[in-house]
Amino acid sequence: MREKILVFDTTLRDGEQSPGASLNVQEKVEIARQLEKLGVDIIEAGFPASSPLQFEAVQKIGAESGAVVAALARAVEQDITRAWQSLREARKPRIHTFISTSDIHITGKFGSSRYGTSLKEKRATILNMAVNAVTFARSLAGDIEFSAEDAGRTDPVYLAEIIEAVIEAGASTVNIPDTTGYTWPSEFGKKIRDLKTRVGNIEKAIISVHCHNDLGLAVANSLSALEQGARQVECSINGIGERAGNASLEEIVMALKVRSDLHNFETGIITEEIYNTSRMVSSFTGIIIQPNKAIVGDNAFSHESGIHQDGMLKNRETYEVMTPQSVGVPETSIVLGRHSGKHGLASRLLSLGYILQDKELETIYRRFVDIADKKKEVYDDDLRVMMGDELSRPASV
Ligand code: KIV
Ligand code: ZN
Repeated sequence: MREKILVFDTTLRDGEQSPGASLNVQEKVEIARQLEKLGVDIIEAGFPASSPLQFEAVQKIGAESGAVVAALARAVEQDITRAWQSLREARKPRIHTFISTSDIHITGKFGSSRYGTSLKEKRATILNMAVNAVTFARSLAGDIEFSAEDAGRTDPVYLAEIIEAVIEAGASTVNIPDTTGYTWPSEFGKKIRDLKTRVGNIEKAIISVHCHNDLGLAVANSLSALEQGARQVECSINGIGERAGNASLEEIVMALKVRSDLHNFETGIITEEIYNTSRMVSSFTGIIIQPNKAIVGDNAFSHESGIHQDGMLKNRETYEVMTPQSVGVPETSIVLGRHSGKHGLASRLLSLGYILQDKELETIYRRFVDIADKKKEVYDDDLRVMMGDELSRPASV
C-alpha cells in the first residue's frame, strides 16, 4: 500500500502574490474548478483579510469546491475572524494561520518593545501569539493549519517548541516553510527529521512543507522533506509565487510518479490535467512559461538534435522519461533546426506526404541545412516551399 501525499495548491494565494499576477474573482473561481479536476487535496484560495476581492473569492470557491479550501490569516484575531467569515459556507473549510519564527524575522518584524525587549522575551511573545491564534481558530473551525514563517532559518530547538505548542492547541497540520528558499535539500530534510524526534506530539499532526525557489531548490527541498516524514506538500502551478516562486506542483508530482521505484508515495493528481491547468494559469495571470520549463514548457517534449531525433524515432524512451500524453500534452514534437539530422528530416517529410529516395534525401538535406543555418526553426511551410512540386511526389499521389 502506498502512502498518500496531500497536495496543497497555493496558486490562488502565494501564486497570486507573484509580481503582476492579479486575478479577478471569476478567474480565481475558474482556476479553482480546474484545480479540483486536477485532483488537488487542498486549495488555498486567498487571504481574506487583505481585500474584499480576496474575501469574495474564498467565499465563492469554498461554497462550491469539493476539495478542502484554506484561507490564510496572520496570527491575530481580526484576520482569523475574517478568514472564518469567508469560509463559513465552505464544504470543507481550513483556517491557515501563520507567524514568523526565525530570529531575523522576529527582530525585524516585531522590533517594537511591546513584544519584549530581549530576543528571549520576543520569542516567548511569538510563541504565545501562535498558541492563542490556533486556540482561537480552533474555537471556530475543526481543520487548522499553522505555519512557522521562515522555518528554514529558525533555530531548531525553538521551532520544535513552537510546533509542539500549536499541536497541543489544536493545529492538525503544521507547516514548515522555507520562506526565503535558503536551505539545501539535505539540510531541509534534516529539519523535518529533527522535528519528528524533538516534538513529542508530532504524530497528532500532519507535517507540511512550503518551499520557495530563490536558489532553484524548492522542488528538491520538498522531495527531501517527504523522504524524511512530511506528508503534505505546498506548491503552485508553474511554480508561480513570491519572488522566484514556490515549488512547482507539476514537477513534484511527476518526479514522484516517474520515480515511483524510489519511494512508497502516491498523490491523487490526475496528471493528464496538468497541461490544461498550466495553460489556464498562465493565460489568466499573464505569466508566461519559460520554454525549457520542466513538464509544461514548450520544449519539454521537443527534440532538435539529429542524434536525439534518430533515437526518438527508434524508441521514444531513449530521450523521454515520461510520455507527453501522461501530462496532457498531445504529442512529442520533433523540431527541425540546424542540429537536426537526415532521419528527422525524412520522417517529417514523410508525414507531410513526401517520399524520398536516398539520393534525393542527400540533395534535400543539403538544402535544408542551408535554410536551417539562417533560421532558428524550420517549419512545415518552409519544407513545403523547399520541396517544390518538382523535387518529389506526395505519398498520397
Ligand atoms: O512562504 C511562506 O512562509 C508563506 C507562509 C504564509 C506559509 O507563504
Ligand atoms: Zn510562501
